[in-house]
Amino acid sequence: MLKMPEKIMSERIVLERPIQPTFKLAEEIFEKVDLSRKTLREWLSWVDGTKRPEDRYSWLVNGAQKNWETGEGYAYLIRDKKTHALLGVIDLVDCSEKHKSAEIGYWLSDDAVGHGYMTEAVTILEMTAFKKGLNRIVIRTDTKNVRSDNVPKRCVYNLEGTLHSCKWDAVHKRFADIHVWAKLKSEWDAEQKKD
Ligand SMILES: CC(C)(COP(=O)(O)OP(=O)(O)OC[C@H]1O[C@@H](n2cnc3c(N)ncnc32)[C@H](O)[C@@H]1OP(=O)(O)O)[C@@H](O)C(=O)NCCC(=O)NCCS
Repeated sequence: MLKMPEKIMSERIVLERPIQPTFKLAEEIFEKVDLSRKTLREWLSWVDGTKRPEDRYSWLVNGAQKNWETGEGYAYLIRDKKTHALLGVIDLVDCSEKHKSAEIGYWLSDDAVGHGYMTEAVTILEMTAFKKGLNRIVIRTDTKNVRSDNVPKRCVYNLEGTLHSCKWDAVHKRFADIHVWAKLKSEWDAEQKKD
């Protein structure tokens, strides 16, 4: 099991494990989702099902909390280091002990987009995960989701290929094409030597 820390800091942000899944925290997350509903629902299938704070509470307890306990995933709230304002969520999912691999998923609220926060979050999460023993990290993006596609591009992931029509997109009523981006520990090591 990956021993991920409960808090990861960088220059402007802090990634925090939602250790105590309180209703107050669920309300805070719900507020951000609600504020950004129009953008988020375009790309994230769970958004339309998030109608009340209770729905995010259920994610905190049955998703985030359970995954942390089993080692299947590690969800972090992304907060502004100075103000502690909630900016979004980054999630290490589908963690495989055997293959030493995992996938990163993410979202930001509309008011946090365009400042490089997600690039910073991916950079510190991958650093931590590689140092803890992961060998491969994947990021999957809808080929039409330009902003999302730009994150792994900016973080120097390799585009390994496109999965054609592999995912039913109920919002747009189409089968989506998905880009598979990946970075290996050896590639991350080489980047560190360059810097
Ligand atoms: C995908 C998503 C997280 C990307 O957010 P983002 O703000 O574009 O990405 P970053 O936080 O890395 O910021 C990059 C932007 O900030 C700018 N920026 C400003 N300061 C920066 C800095 N210090 N470092 C890097 N970029 C910086 C970049 O120029 C870029 O803006 P541009 O695309 O207008 O040129 C966001 O659009 C989102 O949540 N979308 C909806 C949910 C979603 O699609 N999730 C992914 C599903 S696969």
